[in-house]
Amino acid sequence: MTDLAKIAVSLVSKGKGILAADETVSTLTKRFDALKINSTPSSRRDYRELLLTAPGAGEFISGVIMHDETIRQQTSAGAPFVAACEQLGIVPGIKVDAGAKPLAGHAPERVTEGLDGLRERLAEYRQLGARFAKWRAVFEVSDTLPSPACVATNANALARYAALCQEQELVPIVEPEVLMDGAHTIERCEKVTSAVLRAVFLALFEQGVRLEWMLLKPNMVVSGAQCRRQADVGEVAVGTLRCLRRHAPAAVPGVVFLSGGQRDVTATRHLDAINRADGPKPWKLSFSYGRALQDPALATWLGKPENVAAAQKAFYHRARCNSLSALGKYSENEEKHAEPSPSVSSDWRDD
Ligand code: 13P
Repeated sequence: MTDLAKIAVSLVSKGKGILAADETVSTLTKRFDALKINSTPSSRRDYRELLLTAPGAGEFISGVIMHDETIRQQTSAGAPFVAACEQLGIVPGIKVDAGAKPLAGHAPERVTEGLDGLRERLAEYRQLGARFAKWRAVFEVSDTLPSPACVATNANALARYAALCQEQELVPIVEPEVLMDGAHTIERCEKVTSAVLRAVFLALFEQGVRLEWMLLKPNMVVSGAQCRRQADVGEVAVGTLRCLRRHAPAAVPGVVFLSGGQRDVTATRHLDAINRADGPKPWKLSFSYGRALQDPALATWLGKPENVAAAQKAFYHRARCNSLSALGKYSENEEKHAEPSPSVSSDWRDD
């Protein structure tokens, strides 16, 4: 197996998933502000260190996606974050897109930018120790959106990013996110997710991306957040698997879902149901959650050193539950044994 294939496979090794801790400074500042936590380079460093070093969490976390700020920072013990990851057996990763910007002539749709100079930035991140990368494209849903222009432009950018990553010896995580916001039905979500995945894999093929050396990070097929009828867990599992079977080639070693604004326990239940469902599953199915892994820890920490241990326990608990769901072995009884943590759901998303 090549090194890139080995890294891709190790990121989805049994019962393990990825921590997305790559929020931009402005997104993390909004989350901190909502909890009255002062956002500074050192408070953001303390928060990321708390997550990374949570005792025992390394059993469930295979990789961490960092922001540019974090990969250049050191832990309080003076070790670069990359070295701290390696010590814990966690593969260091990096967000490399420059954010979703208005797509000219197609408001409110957006295109993810960051291709200019990407080869050089990837080379630097590889030098700093990153072994995988992430690029997120977003698709708004309505009766008429996403437009063909938005789908084609973002699919092309994702594929060019992925090809550059592989050239620079980094495993690309390809993240096309069909947004949950909106009143659309689960059927509409499945239709749009299908069209987006079809366009993305066509573009990946055209750009010569090796599917064995990448991971797919999609949304689950769910009802829009404002839809009057919310699909149940079984419907989400069936719709998500049907969509992936039809549109995600079996050569991709792993599918690591984003949480996309689902509540933490809901995201865990969905992943568990997906893994328990009958039928072929040629890829590993795991998590690459941001908010659904972090929210209870952040709301417990509140920026106070005396809360670090409790926040780490909250993070450990969600990581463990999601590990169980990646194995299809989660039970809601797990939540009863947990220390109660403040109930939060952060709406802030990256630009
Ligand atoms: P959420 O799980 O909070 O959607 O974040 C995942 C992510 O990496 C978004 O790019």
